[in-house]
Formats: sequence, structure tokens, C-alpha cells
Amino acid sequence: MAVIAGNWKMHKNRGEALAYLQEFAPLVAGSDQEIVLCAPFTALAVLSEPLATTGIALGAQNVHWEAAGAYTGEISPPMLTDLGVRYVIIGHSERRQYFGETDERVNLRLKAAQRHGLIPILCVGETEEQRHQGLTEAHILAQLAQGLVGVKVPQVIIAYEPIWAIGSGNTCPPEEANRVIGVIRKEITLLQQATSQATDHVRILYGGSVKPDNIDDLMAMPEVDGVLVGTASLEPQAFARIVNYRVAP
Ligand code: PGA
Repeated sequence: MAVIAGNWKMHKNRGEALAYLQEFAPLVAGSDQEIVLCAPFTALAVLSEPLATTGIALGAQNVHWEAAGAYTGEISPPMLTDLGVRYVIIGHSERRQYFGETDERVNLRLKAAQRHGLIPILCVGETEEQRHQGLTEAHILAQLAQGLVGVKVPQVIIAYEPIWAIGSGNTCPPEEANRVIGVIRKEITLLQQATSQATDHVRILYGGSVKPDNIDDLMAMPEVDGVLVGTASLEPQAFARIVNYRVAP
């Protein structure tokens, strides 16, 4: 079963979210994939109840690490679980780039999410410049090493999202996504062994300009356990085609 997660980012009010669901849910009704819709905080409440009767899970796009407190503008893990949220994106490159997100805070958020029974989707990935300088692996491994301290690794979903591929239409070639995810998997396995954690299979997704016309090739890659989709998840027909990907047996 693949994880197919949509990240709506800062899109869709309540009415738009419900209209989307009405069109999207029947298109994926027979799917046995793990489908996740990561909606803005303001659309979570209205999606929660109608989603419960579908096989689609609700996700958020960030979470604070404290359960409650004087943190103006923040949303806590229990606030999310109260709404039926089961997944949360942590460390998205847009949070890192525009909102000063650090690996240290990513780590706090990951641990807090797990304490409260949320499944974190941890995003890692290199900039175009880092890639050109040959720093792709070193950068990602540093993000993992710092982000995953004290985290139950088998219960994290990791998303490899090369920043140059996000929102650019410039998808990472499937073979290269497969290679980098293989590198991540090796590192994760070492980390699991070093911290005496079960070496269960960790789901690792690809993200960055995933579309109906490249999903089949991406999902054909042996290391790719699913995808995290931004732009193409905003349109029900496109996202449904991604959920219903076809890989030759
Ligand atoms: P994109 O975004 O699909 O629009 O490239 C992916 C993401 O940011 O998760």
C-alpha cells in the first residue's frame, strides 16, 4: 500500500474544501492506497466528519511541540487530534525557507507529534545550489541526523523533496529520486540499528512536481513508497489520477 499525500499549502477555504471532497471521494472510493489530505488549519474542522466515512485520512501542515501554552498563533498536537487529524507534515522546505524552521525545532515537533499519536511526514531535500556543489547526500543526512534524535523512526514517514523540484514543474528523474531515497533508507537503517529500534520498513515518499503524467514512472521505482503532492493535489481529477496510478506488473 502506497502513501499518497496531498499538501494543499495555503489554498482552499471551507466551501472549496468541501466541494473538492465531493468530487474527489467518489473517484478514489475503490482505492486501497493510504490517502492523506493535508489541509490548512482552517479547513480541518469542516473536512473531519465527511472524511470519516471515506478511506481518506486528514493531515495538517505543521504543529507546535507544546500541548498548550502562551504561544500566540500556534496549533498544538491535541488540537489536531481533537479534529480527527492523523498525519502532520513537519519540516517542509517552505517552512524552513520562509519561516526560519530549524532542524532542532523539526525534532521537537516530531517528538511531540509522536507523543500525541500523530504520524509525522518529515520533509528533507537539497537546494539546487547544494546539488550542483555535490552536497545533496551530506545535506539530507544532516537533516535526518538532527531531526530524528529521540524519534521513533519506524513510525515516521519521510518525504524526499528536492527543493528545485517543488512547484517548478521540474520533476526529479525517477531513477534519481530512487537513488536518493535508497541513500536515505540506508542511513535510516543504520540509525535504527544504532538506537536499537526495530528495523521495520520506513515509508519514504518522493515529492516535487508530481503529476498525473509522471506518477506511474515514479511509483514504478522500487524505493518509492508513495508521493507528497502539492500543486496537482489541488485539483480533484488530477489528484485522483495520482492516487489511481498504474504500474505494469
Ligand atoms: P509541488 O509541491 O507538487 O507543487 O511541487 C510539493 C510539495 O511542496 O510538497
